[in-house]
Amino acid sequence: MVFGGTGDLVARKLLPALWDLVRPDPAAAVHVLALGRREMEEAGYRSWAARRFGDRGRAAPAPWRRWAADHLHYENIGSETPADFQRLADRIRGIEAGHRLPGNRLFYLALPAPAFGPVLDGLGAAGLARAPGWCRLVLEKPFGRDLASARALNETIHRHFRESQVFRIDHYLGKETVQNLLVFRFANMLFESVWNRDRVEHVEITVAEDLGVEHRAGYYDQTGALRDMVQSHLLQLLMLTAMEVPGSLDADEVRNEKVKVLRAIRPIRPEDAVFGQYAAGRTGGRRRPAYRAEEGIPRNSRTETYVALRLSIDTWRWHGVPFFLRTGKRLGGKLTEIVVRFREPPVWFFPRSGSPAIRANTLTILIQPGEGFELAIEIKRPGPEIRLVTQRLHFRYDEAFGPLEDAYPALLRDVVAGDPSLFVRADEVEESWRVVDPLLARRSVRLLYPAGSWGPAAATRLLGRDGHSWSTP
Ligand code: BG6
Repeated sequence: MVFGGTGDLVARKLLPALWDLVRPDPAAAVHVLALGRREMEEAGYRSWAARRFGDRGRAAPAPWRRWAADHLHYENIGSETPADFQRLADRIRGIEAGHRLPGNRLFYLALPAPAFGPVLDGLGAAGLARAPGWCRLVLEKPFGRDLASARALNETIHRHFRESQVFRIDHYLGKETVQNLLVFRFANMLFESVWNRDRVEHVEITVAEDLGVEHRAGYYDQTGALRDMVQSHLLQLLMLTAMEVPGSLDADEVRNEKVKVLRAIRPIRPEDAVFGQYAAGRTGGRRRPAYRAEEGIPRNSRTETYVALRLSIDTWRWHGVPFFLRTGKRLGGKLTEIVVRFREPPVWFFPRSGSPAIRANTLTILIQPGEGFELAIEIKRPGPEIRLVTQRLHFRYDEAFGPLEDAYPALLRDVVAGDPSLFVRADEVEESWRVVDPLLARRSVRLLYPAGSWGPAAATRLLGRDGHSWSTP
């Protein structure tokens, strides 16, 4: 059951991801009931979904249309009254009986956050939080707008569902390269033994986008980059980079270690946060309007489209090592990476030439694009003199394995398998809000940066204070 069935996310991401799962066996006992407010006939819904299927310009494949004719259903859920939910319960039982399904149910809430509460209460009141088989709930971020609303949402969820039934999606956790962080760190003694304050100078986490606000003005202007990206994706990357070794791969053991990282983050000082908003400029060879000139954005909006932070994690492993996080829209390119910059050798006896004279080793974990990693090391340039040059050893997923799967099919497969490892637990949501919550009141933007640049100059100074600079632009 998919709430928000007529939304963009469902047509573009969810239905194609589901199709990836059922394609090997289209006759499998999997039925999708899309729920939406629009009055539509079932056939009308199927052709709407076929037209919007996947990324723009990619029509639904013929085998999908054949599958959808039998397996994709639609129900208008109207104003979400108790009678609506009773009708829904009857419809579900009808589909299950008609197709002899085992009664495993998955409710996917592809809805804006304010709509969660009424749906959860409606499902609970209609007895739909239990099923003849398993019953699972999938929620899309954002999980609240601040700490208080996140707590309230968790309370509403837990009134009806047990935490073990709940799968909160942060799609970054479904990316192969993000999952590989654990393998990279805990299957390679080489890196784990230098992954600490003795050897690491600082860590940078960048999630840069060249896209602007696109067609999401209403959502984005109320949200901003801190809520949209930092509270979720960037803190997830931070947790996986900084966490201790879990006792096993058990979902709760991994998530316990992640939450400990959030708990150890010191309150962020005002001078350690930079907020910016894009002004007009050029990206991809085209002139782009300022954020405030985008369709649907108030001309005097002070919503941040860029955030840079300096975080300190007070643990034995990380005390004194700054973590720099940045994210923004309309930047110079699409780039998600984690850079671990190691300390310089304590004594340097090679001739100094060029700038900088000493280069520290860096490990760059490329989340996207160009998924893989790079290790920058110093070598001697061949010749009679001792002259050093930096070389980058690299590994690329696509060279080794071909293109990577999208995050959504992987996450859906885990929901069906009942494995919550890659989903965000209730306390993880609340702790991540605890980190960003004090910043929410401080982020009214005054700094502008040109579209196509790498953000405001203040973000460069944020690292400059510690004698560092961002490794990429
Ligand atoms: C979403 C944000 O969660 O992540 C978007 O709401 C953002 O604003 C997107 O564009 C980025 O995801 P990806 O996978 O393209 O890095």
